[in-house]
Amino acid sequence: MSKPLKQIHLAAHFPGVNNTTVWSDPAAGSHIEFSSFTHFAKTAERARFDFLFLAEGLRLREQGGKIYDLDVVGRPDTFTILAALAAVTEHLGLTGTINSTFNEPYEVARQFASLDHLSGGRAAWNVVTSWDAFTGENFRRGGFLPQDERYSRAKEFLATANELFDSWHGDEILADQATGSFLSDARAGSFVHKGPQFDIHGQFNVPRSPQGRPVIFQAGESDEGREFAASGADAIFSRYATLDAGQAFYTDVKSRLAKYGRRPDELLILPAASFVLGDTDAEAEEIAHQVRRQQVSGATALKHLEFVWNRDLSSYDPEGPLPDVDPLVGEEHISRGRAQVRMYRDPVAIAREWRELAEANKWSIRDLVINTGNRQTFVGSPATVARTINDFVQADVSDGFILVPHITPGGLDAFADTVVPLLQEQGVFRTEYEGTTLRDHLGLAHPDEKRSERVAS
Ligand SMILES: Cc1cc2nc3c(=O)[nH]c(=O)nc-3n(C[C@H](O)[C@H](O)[C@H](O)COP(=O)(O)O)c2cc1C
Repeated sequence: MSKPLKQIHLAAHFPGVNNTTVWSDPAAGSHIEFSSFTHFAKTAERARFDFLFLAEGLRLREQGGKIYDLDVVGRPDTFTILAALAAVTEHLGLTGTINSTFNEPYEVARQFASLDHLSGGRAAWNVVTSWDAFTGENFRRGGFLPQDERYSRAKEFLATANELFDSWHGDEILADQATGSFLSDARAGSFVHKGPQFDIHGQFNVPRSPQGRPVIFQAGESDEGREFAASGADAIFSRYATLDAGQAFYTDVKSRLAKYGRRPDELLILPAASFVLGDTDAEAEEIAHQVRRQQVSGATALKHLEFVWNRDLSSYDPEGPLPDVDPLVGEEHISRGRAQVRMYRDPVAIAREWRELAEANKWSIRDLVINTGNRQTFVGSPATVARTINDFVQADVSDGFILVPHITPGGLDAFADTVVPLLQEQGVFRTEYEGTTLRDHLGLAHPDEKRSERVAS
């Protein structure tokens, strides 16, 4: 018998500050005004998506004392946006990235429990450890927590938050809640946590929320990050959306679950994916190329190169050849607040490789950056894109995708109108929401069901 088709999970990443956003396009709107968030969320909900996703950027990134052109759109606060969106949507899950390095468990648990109440069980928390010391200067004396302590803190942070979410557990408390007499019950919300990272006790002041706990996401790629996800997350936000890399990541992470007593379907893998649609595949390819040129201006191309060369290249012409000087290698890095610092471990070798590539193809600096940068994940007619997404999910590249359009707020509209109906026709994507909570949409058990399953077995 052939395997039943997997159902696809789809989500929408509000672009904000990232390398995908084309804010200079005439079709691009505000990244701050609430009408943009509403438009985006309503499109995602109309298309029956599982959830809307917000990444977290805590400081505008810089290079050579200048803010990146991609960062000028700004990034408002996650909880404020998601709470407002809860009021204008009915079914859509609301996922916020909140780091465990610069925050405190009590505060974060309280915010997510509140969001889960306000939204009727649609909250999710993407637990990240966050970037570098530059980012941390906004929050911490000394800016940062050493790399090897960040996951210790993350693990204890999540465990502590879970204790708080569960602190209102108990039938008596829930029954009393209806009459308002629970305030006399001294056990409601009481907690004690003693650990190396947090030594706190008191009374949690938000009653148990509809989902029991928000859905937990994780986004971090190291071995420790993957173990953290395998031990306690419900989903991973990754960047492996191509066939080979996606399958390798999927197999690796899913194989880590058994040692935590978990089944492979208890952790969903949801990579970020960009897309470009056209009436035909050829037209989509053409548009995709233009979009990449919009994403990589001459100034962006030079900044990208400086990132590897680790030196000021502002005197170079982005439409001219690559620099013949070698990158500077050392601890100090020209870029501040960027994720990829550790991606280029051998900049001198990369520079050599890029010079050879550029010479062979007669590429300028900008051509090189455009051609070696990430191509959009799905490019084609709606039929091609729908088929590829389904093929990828059935081939265990992922359990679905978190789509990142390049235009805000209308970049999802065409996908909703043309690709989603095709996936629905193929029977691999819902035509109506079947449940009310995000756990329902994602096919994840409520923590209380998990608890009783464990007790029964
Ligand atoms: C796909 C992906 C998305 C991430 N998104 C964010 C984010 O929105 N905000 C943030 O502060 N950190 C984000 N991170 C950073 C992680 O929290 C983490 O600090 C970083 O990846 C280093 O951990 P690692 O070595 O386990 O990957 C992201 C990481 C990955 C891989």
